[in-house]
Amino acid sequence: MNVKSRVGNEIALITGGASGIGQACASVLGRRGAKVCLLDIHEDGLAATAAVLSDQGIDVLTVTADVTDQAAVEGAVAKLVNLWGGLDTVVTSAGIEHVGIVEDTPLTDFRRVLDIALVGTFIAAKVSLPHLRVSRGSFTAVGSTTSLTGANGWSAYSAAKHGVVGLVKSMALDHARDGIRINAVLPGFIQTPMSARLLEGLSEQELAATDAAIPIGRRAEPVEVAHAVAYLSSPEASYVTGSLFAVDGGMLAGAYEPTD
Ligand code: NAI
Repeated sequence: MNVKSRVGNEIALITGGASGIGQACASVLGRRGAKVCLLDIHEDGLAATAAVLSDQGIDVLTVTADVTDQAAVEGAVAKLVNLWGGLDTVVTSAGIEHVGIVEDTPLTDFRRVLDIALVGTFIAAKVSLPHLRVSRGSFTAVGSTTSLTGANGWSAYSAAKHGVVGLVKSMALDHARDGIRINAVLPGFIQTPMSARLLEGLSEQELAATDAAIPIGRRAEPVEVAHAVAYLSSPEASYVTGSLFAVDGGMLAGAYEPTD
């Protein structure tokens, strides 16, 4: 088996760890014994998240940094490796929403969406892979259902998320023989501050219609994505690499017409 059992000694880096899915990943990994380093641009969110995790007895390190800043991410990884002695698990959850057709999207916006979701994932991988080679660890990127399908009004976001799966698949092949497993989770509609911003102003009826279009009939809690990330980064997933793990209530399974 290629995977060293690190449960209890696990050291994890989570980008976008101050909110939503990243925050839930920190909590789930922390509760299984991992020491967690949260990297995020949102300083107040980091402090609030760290306080909650510390209260649960989880060892937390926070780094305020932009995932597009290679030197800053390098610094974060160096800091956690110096402090804790290694790195086993990387989760890249930092991302921003963006809605708009191409004609209405300024180039700067398009570049920023790609920079955070795709270049940010590349940088996290670039600086963490040398350490994951030592630990025979895992890297899990947070993609989206729009990693595999387009969505009208979501061109920049979908382009970035498609890029993430290309990166993940190729890195999985590049590092399979190094014992590093590299996967992506593809969340559907998750109740986080990001989706709250997108749904702001919708009526109860419109919200109900949004939920009805999801085969399972509801949006997910962030922890439901975090459990998939926890599995992919666990010894139980020892033969899983290059996989795209949908956590989407059935959205990617096909077209869905509610029947009730
Ligand atoms: P969120 O907005 O609650 O959390 C995203 C976190 O990323 C925030 O803490 C934010 O400060 C951080 N972040 C943004 N730009 C950053 C940067 N340049 N450097 C460092 N940190 C940065 O969003 P949520 O919903 O938790 O999203 C997490 C990931 O899941 C994103 O990649 C998103 O695209 C993806 N996703 C979310 C879905 C949803 O329904 N909420 C569905 C599918 C994918």
